[in-house]
Amino acid sequence: MDCGFPDILNAFEQALELERELGTRTVDGDRALLAPRSGGTPLPPAGTPRSGGTPLPLAGTLLSPAGASRSGERTVPLGEAASRRFTGTTGVSPVATPALPTAAELAACTRCDLHGLGRTHVVPGQGNADSPDFMFVGEAPGADEDRQGLAFVGAAGQFLTKMIAAMGYTRDQVFIANICKCRPPNNRTPSPPEMAACVPYLKRQIARIRPKCLILLGNTAMRGLFPDTFMRRGQWQMYEGIPAIGTFHPAYILRFDSVRDSAGLRKAKTEVWNTLKLALARLGKTPPAIQRKGQTT
Ligand code: URA
Repeated sequence: MDCGFPDILNAFEQALELERELGTRTVDGDRALLAPRSGGTPLPPAGTPRSGGTPLPLAGTLLSPAGASRSGERTVPLGEAASRRFTGTTGVSPVATPALPTAAELAACTRCDLHGLGRTHVVPGQGNADSPDFMFVGEAPGADEDRQGLAFVGAAGQFLTKMIAAMGYTRDQVFIANICKCRPPNNRTPSPPEMAACVPYLKRQIARIRPKCLILLGNTAMRGLFPDTFMRRGQWQMYEGIPAIGTFHPAYILRFDSVRDSAGLRKAKTEVWNTLKLALARLGKTPPAIQRKGQTT
């Protein structure tokens, strides 16, 4: 392992916290491990056998009994996560991070009312899920996204693609997701209960994907991830050790275009671009040089 035992415990505690948010009430494990650590007894090194001779579980069967659930529904298996080592720069290990629901489990999701309000597809998001430099988080799928099962593929998505390209990336190199995974009717803003039902899943995604930087698109994304903080656009917050910055939602930018407000459009685009440059700089990167028309190199 490339992280110390306290790091592993911290990650374990975070995973338990996430499980609590997701509704899990019981876990398997050695109670002694959860005892306060301030008493002075040093923690054993990773892999030290417990009294029964079994190595300490670093991840795996956190739910009890195996596959049983909080309220009778099928639970998400927690295995597999331990095998992925953290290589990013955010200082948090993904040890014991729960696995994500399968496509079938997602399609059967009834955690909020949106499943019965015309949903065609649940849209979990897509892209590089292996510690990408950037993870973009929007609001909720629109009509195109609902039809195709992919995040940001409509008009707002095309603008997002341009933003990503201007940063020097392709869509496949970043991860693109939303606060809510199902389309609200008429593209309305997701309601607080809808957000509350879905945000734990986004948090689980972030915990597994381990982006190096989060870019939150619009107020809903900022409020969804930082419900207790007034997050200003263009100002950094930390989410679980990951730097997060907010900017306008691409759909908001497009609105200036549709009302032919070119001054407003320019101002909003400039603000977005300044924020994207801040995000690049946070990772020690600069945007690629702009290729002018007719330029060959
Ligand atoms: N708006 C969003 O917030 N997300 C999408 O996927 C599409 C439009």
